[in-house]
Amino acid sequence: MSHYFTNDYVESKEQKTKCIIKNTELTFITDNGVFSKKGLDFGTRTLLETLDNISGQVLDFGCGYGPIGIYVKKAFETEVDAIDINVRAMNLAKKNAELNNTKINIFESNMYENITKQYDYIITNPPIRVGKKILYQILFDAKKYLKKEGQLWLVIHKDQGAKTLAKDLEKEYKIEIKNKNKGFYIICARNN
Ligand SMILES: C[S@@+](CC[C@H](N)C(=O)[O-])C[C@H]1O[C@@H](n2cnc3c(N)ncnc32)[C@H](O)[C@@H]1O
Repeated sequence: MSHYFTNDYVESKEQKTKCIIKNTELTFITDNGVFSKKGLDFGTRTLLETLDNISGQVLDFGCGYGPIGIYVKKAFETEVDAIDINVRAMNLAKKNAELNNTKINIFESNMYENITKQYDYIITNPPIRVGKKILYQILFDAKKYLKKEGQLWLVIHKDQGAKTLAKDLEKEYKIEIKNKNKGFYIICARNN
């Protein structure tokens, strides 16, 4: 079975979607085989609408077709790296960055294997379907790629274990729940 986080082949059928996030208008090309192909995911939207005062160096982990990295670059003064394991998604993110007149650095990476620096922010709508072990690896390993006081921002739904995750992350980070909307939790985990 093919999932959006694998590189299994599913026939391509690109489509264009438009959205407005806090006065920033964006157009995205999406495709079969990538997350939320019908348009901006509500969890991602809630995450982006909650972000404030972002600056410095940002990593968009699991960029999909690019909404997080592209929005952050357009809305704030930042340098953005964006990674994904899914090559189709990564190529869409490259097209979408150009389509929205933004310059972000997009490359393939399984987990953090091609990451060589530390960031002020790691922002993610993380892959849940990979299972708890890999999800926790993504979120706990993020600490190694954050500067001191750097922040990991993520969205997760309460039905996907938001409360337990926030509690578990407290072992390694200082946690703040920045927003809740229709069951989606926006969690900020600070590397203190
Ligand atoms: C929930 S989707 C979010 C996509 C996009 N950021 C958005 O908000 O629409 C999670 C993304 O993580 C990617 N992903 C899954 N496993 C990964 C891994 N091991 N390394 C890097 N990216 C991964 C998936 O391919 C997918 O694009």
